[in-house]
Amino acid sequence: MAQKISRPVIYLLFALLLSLALLTPIGSKSIVESAPATSVQNKQNFSTDVIYQIVTDRFSDGNAANNPTGNAFSAGCTNLRVYCGGDWAGIVNKINDNYFTDMGITALWISQPVENIFSVITNSGVHNTPYHGYWARDFKKTNPAFGSMTDFQNLINAAHAKNIKIVIDFAPNHTSPASEDDPSFADNGRLYNNGTLVAGYTGDTNGIFHHNLGTNFSSTEDGIYRNLYDLADISHNSNTIDTYFKDSIKLWLDMGIDGIRVDAVKHMPFGWQKSWMSYIHNYKPVFTFGEWFLGTNEISQENYSFANNSGMSLLDFEFGQKVRQVFRDNTANMYNLDTMISGTASAYTQVADQVTFIDNHDLDRFQVTGASGRKLEQALAFTLTSRGVPGIYYGTEQYLTGNGDPNNRGMMNSFSKTTTAYNVIKKLAPLRKSNPAMAYGSTQQRWISNDVYVYERKFGNNVAVVAINRGGSSASINGLLTSLAAGTYADVLGGTLNGNSITAASGGAVNTFSLAAGAVGVWQYTAASAAQIGNFGPEMGKAGNTVTIDGTGFGATKGTVFFGTTAVTGANITSWEDTQIKVIVPSVAAGKYNVMIRTAASVDSNAVASYNVLTGTQVTVRFVVNNATTVPGEAIYLAGNVAELGGWDTNKAIGPMYNQVIYSYPTWYFDVSVPANTTLEFKYFKKNGSTVTFQGGANKTFVTPASGVATVTIGW
Ligand code: NOJ
Ligand code: NOJ
Ligand code: CA
Ligand code: CA
Repeated sequence: MAQKISRPVIYLLFALLLSLALLTPIGSKSIVESAPATSVQNKQNFSTDVIYQIVTDRFSDGNAANNPTGNAFSAGCTNLRVYCGGDWAGIVNKINDNYFTDMGITALWISQPVENIFSVITNSGVHNTPYHGYWARDFKKTNPAFGSMTDFQNLINAAHAKNIKIVIDFAPNHTSPASEDDPSFADNGRLYNNGTLVAGYTGDTNGIFHHNLGTNFSSTEDGIYRNLYDLADISHNSNTIDTYFKDSIKLWLDMGIDGIRVDAVKHMPFGWQKSWMSYIHNYKPVFTFGEWFLGTNEISQENYSFANNSGMSLLDFEFGQKVRQVFRDNTANMYNLDTMISGTASAYTQVADQVTFIDNHDLDRFQVTGASGRKLEQALAFTLTSRGVPGIYYGTEQYLTGNGDPNNRGMMNSFSKTTTAYNVIKKLAPLRKSNPAMAYGSTQQRWISNDVYVYERKFGNNVAVVAINRGGSSASINGLLTSLAAGTYADVLGGTLNGNSITAASGGAVNTFSLAAGAVGVWQYTAASAAQIGNFGPEMGKAGNTVTIDGTGFGATKGTVFFGTTAVTGANITSWEDTQIKVIVPSVAAGKYNVMIRTAASVDSNAVASYNVLTGTQVTVRFVVNNATTVPGEAIYLAGNVAELGGWDTNKAIGPMYNQVIYSYPTWYFDVSVPANTTLEFKYFKKNGSTVTFQGGANKTFVTPASGVATVTIGW
């Protein structure tokens, strides 16, 4: 459908919408529900969704009866370090009064739902409780301050009835604050399995926790195997723990959750996380995104590598921090913003899968007390029209302020549907579903200065052009070239942020126009397109798993899906619609494959990188090598015969291995996700620049367990 808007067309559309509104009885199914490809039924890909992040305790108190008592509770929320009463019943109320639906929100990310410690930690007279949900004690029970299992099921059902997905926060890195030598402090980090004690932090004879003191954040290894602050750090090199976290996430998946936000992924062994993700993707695959915190101007190859290889996406801190610099703090300009956009487009295998944001519970609120709201509105408009899955922190649409934790986690102050920010979201969020250029499109800079950024999103023949002027004076946008078809385009925001209509000539050249100081204009166009893949998920799995492919122009008749050159047809394609295909991963050699589709009319789509076919079910093995002495500049790597060990390709090998915390130099170690029940052949090698020196002798062998974890130790 072309959305070049001429007056008569506007009247026609208006009349059509009006008649639809009049004809649709209240409570009937919405139009979106008839399009399963992008509905709540799509738990694998969130590119067409907008996520709203809720600190459950701080949103809405729907049930005063479950509020904690005594010094664990603050009536009126005057102590932001204890409970304030928010719960799932409160969220259900807001779902039912359409606070989210009217804003265009299609997914809610809520606080970790599991049972947390009940003790109040008092530091110099100040009380602290896990109102935030990050001090778990039993991952198989609910936090009663948020509700019961029945309340949680009600939340899922209420959300799904409004076509809203529920994403839970989940923090398997740690339990709660604990002291190595004072078992009476707080809850001693105790972990329970549905009411049965697994272990406390002191007297931990079964090695459930790490006991390596707190991290100083000096290296990735230090951050993984030492405590994050004083949080009792869980050891994932334990059969008890491995089983526990598979069973506990299964419980929440069975409740019907649609996604998972994984806390502190930088602080857990990557091998364990990969094998845990392969368990989830084999059981009930849901969109999962991890928190790899990055500071301002921090760019991390490990962050990209994790997003591309772990089987989960990431919160896109590089995006969030740059947006804050450009629109909030004025410490970067539009050229820097454009460099971030182009850099991340190539660094992430699937940039459309990373979750974008402008603020969250660990950053200062975007809105600065006393500042104009326009900066926040521009940042929201940018995020909602950029690649990735937009996430909006609760209260941002109400201009909540507050620097630092817990001031950035104040009680929701208003549920007004008339703020400018609410209306910016309301107007732009639906484009994620109505124009695939928003969900899946490439991004191209079309006009730029320090203060002005004009960019084009394009997917097939679908186009959106966005112009933002953060400066204090109006800009004359001349010589703008776009992919828009000839015509006049109304601003999607309807002038809310002072944008006007623009006119494109054939060839896409836009007549010179004036972009007011602080303005944002959004113009868009949709048209039928040839077969094109926008996204697929999960990105990792084994033969027999199902992959959901979303895009456009697939046609109504079943065609072929290719993994590399391997064609999948017939019953191995379990559903085929014009915008979505579900396909079973073929039995091919393990490794990464581009995915492509061929329509029934023999039209080939783009080939999209890359699905990671695993050798099989994964287990986590800790590889340890003793007496591996090295010279400065040299490090130890692990290579082996399966794809998970790089298939003997030294460029895909595991490493550099660690040698500081669990074991010390000249012993090196690394936790690796490898196929279960398999005889591995492997060897270590020393690498110095491009010089590789393998261990002598025959390949080493190790038979991996059928499930759980294992450790294999050899000498160099
Ligand atoms: C990161 C979370 O976002 C933060 O709020 C929390 O305190 C830590 N991880 C520990 O769970
Ligand atoms: C396995 C290799 O590891 C991978 O790189 C390759 O793409 C596939 N085999 C297909 O040949
Ligand atoms: Ca309550
Ligand atoms: Ca850890």
